[in-house]
Amino acid sequence: MAPDRIPADQYAAPMRGILLAGGTGSRLWPMTRSVSKQLMPIYDKPMIFYPLSTLISIGIREILVITAPADQDPFARLLGDGSQWGLRLSYAVQPRPDGIAQALVIGEDFLGGRGCALILGDNLFHGMNFGSWARSDMELSGAHVLACPVARPSAYGVVEFDADGRVLTLEEKPARPRSRYAVPGLYFYDSEGAKIAKSLPRGARGEFEITALNEYYLRERSLRVTVMDRGSVWLDTGTVADLARAAEYVRVVEERQGVKIGCVEEAAWRAGLIDDAHLRRLAEPLLSSGYGDYLLRLVD
Ligand code: G1P
Repeated sequence: MAPDRIPADQYAAPMRGILLAGGTGSRLWPMTRSVSKQLMPIYDKPMIFYPLSTLISIGIREILVITAPADQDPFARLLGDGSQWGLRLSYAVQPRPDGIAQALVIGEDFLGGRGCALILGDNLFHGMNFGSWARSDMELSGAHVLACPVARPSAYGVVEFDADGRVLTLEEKPARPRSRYAVPGLYFYDSEGAKIAKSLPRGARGEFEITALNEYYLRERSLRVTVMDRGSVWLDTGTVADLARAAEYVRVVEERQGVKIGCVEEAAWRAGLIDDAHLRRLAEPLLSSGYGDYLLRLVD
């Protein structure tokens, strides 16, 4: 077994995953008029591969993919039922872009009272040691979110800390941010998440804001916030400039280091969900793009 593969027993995960890939992608029009934003390429693979491989590396196998109504077919064509990667994928629709917290309400039956990791389909994480998270978050009580310093926090949910690192406030896209720390689109909730999300009113943008859900947990004193290490990277791909930056980042790292970021097949193999022979079979139809050669190099 390669040294950075996670032992399969860590995968007895009670927690399920929700991958939210809805929205209209209007900040990328005309590109996303007929193609979902989360199917757009980031360098050499579709955007959704990045958050999907993050969920796999956290140790999650059962995942609900939520899309806009018109996009379900193309996502299902790309990802299928997930069994080719040792996953169980199901699909649901978000009728309108009504906010991130609504994903938990849509996913309530799927979760069946379990905790969940919710990830946004346009968020890219790299360099985080999610293997160790799996152990601590699977039995989570409360909520757990990340904080990442960014140059322009006003575009995000913002978390403010006191001098001892305790969370003081959370604000969604504040005009005058109280800190540099944005809350990335990867959230962990206990079994109460869906119920609480259901009880929240719409926010100022008319959406069910994820920040309101996190504020609820903060008021209950059950919100944990982990500041990302300096070496870890979080990118989102909401605008044309973000998309180009993310593609360039992935290209530079992949060309320089010869490793892929966001490679679903590799994540599944490292997680022990598929074996060497299976990875070779997956590589076969992908040889003409070079992607398959990379998969073969992993096992040979
Ligand atoms: C959303 C959330 C925001 C979070 C961001 C992460 O923003 O509302 O709190 O920081 O995702 O990508 P939106 O995608 O609506 O701009």
